[in-house]
Amino acid sequence: MIEVDNVTKIYKLNRRQRQQMKTNNKQKVAVERVSFTAKEGEIFGLLGPNGAGKTTTLRMIATLLKPTDGSIRVQGFDTVKQGDDVRRSIAFLTNELKLDPQFCPQYLFRFFGRLYGMNEEEIDKRKEELFSYFGITEFQDKKVSELSTGMKQKTSIAVSLLHDPDVVVFDEPTNGLDIVTSRAVTDYLKFLKDKGKVIIISTHIMSEAQKLCDRLSMIIGGRAVFEGTVKQVCEQTGTQDLEDAFFSVYRENVQNEEELRELSELYNQLDKHKEAGI
Ligand SMILES: Nc1ncnc2c1ncn2[C@@H]1O[C@H](COP(=O)(O)OP(=O)(O)OP(=O)(O)O)[C@@H](O)[C@H]1O
Ligand SMILES: [Mg+2]
Repeated sequence: MIEVDNVTKIYKLNRRQRQQMKTNNKQKVAVERVSFTAKEGEIFGLLGPNGAGKTTTLRMIATLLKPTDGSIRVQGFDTVKQGDDVRRSIAFLTNELKLDPQFCPQYLFRFFGRLYGMNEEEIDKRKEELFSYFGITEFQDKKVSELSTGMKQKTSIAVSLLHDPDVVVFDEPTNGLDIVTSRAVTDYLKFLKDKGKVIIISTHIMSEAQKLCDRLSMIIGGRAVFEGTVKQVCEQTGTQDLEDAFFSVYRENVQNEEELRELSELYNQLDKHKEAGI
């Protein structure tokens, strides 16, 4: 189970970031008091537009970032106090973690397998299972740099799953993949769900989420604005599909986001006044 409890993440912005983001704010509230629970045997979706806070949330679950406030438990382990236990329990996939381009899939698989303390026999068995499912076997001796986007992504997925963890945390797993490759990935996620794993994915592809996710949380401007099933969000918004439902929820919440921006402007002014000793 993944229990996200009232989690906030505030990034400090350096001067360059402030210039890039065209803001005077010294900090960015990326995730604000977000709570949800993802359970065994379900695929939980984090849905939201660019910059909503999906990756930040998943990185906190995967122990790569510390929440500024609130707490997260994965299989009962606290992500800050019991990071090692959490990392052993999860498969984490993100666009930002790249496989080393000069190595080949089978070398990487073995390398990470040994890091997880698996013996050669276990590694070979897992490699056979995952490489044959994802069609990696015939490319296993090629350098990662020579592989197609899809094959790189499938290799990343296979490597992330090699220790057969109970919790799967995938950030936009089908990003940039063609429909055949996407299907192989989503079918595998369903297979893992049927095995009773806890699965959380982020996506902004509404049609995919509609088909795949048992429950979801919509995140807009760092805040969770809805948690429930696809059916519930459609009923609540009087819409037929998730895309329409998403737009409906989005329109409602963008106004609030503008209010939030005004408020943060106000805080900013106050900070300036304080700095100037007014
Ligand atoms: N290291 C960082 N330092 C400062 N701000 C950051 C940092 N990482 C992310 N942000 C900001 O936090 C907010 C949330 O970013 P995040 O990457 O979590 O969003 P996302 O929902 O994953 O977006 P996308 O769909 O584009 O992947 C954005 O406004 C982003 O600019
Ligand atoms: Mg992201």
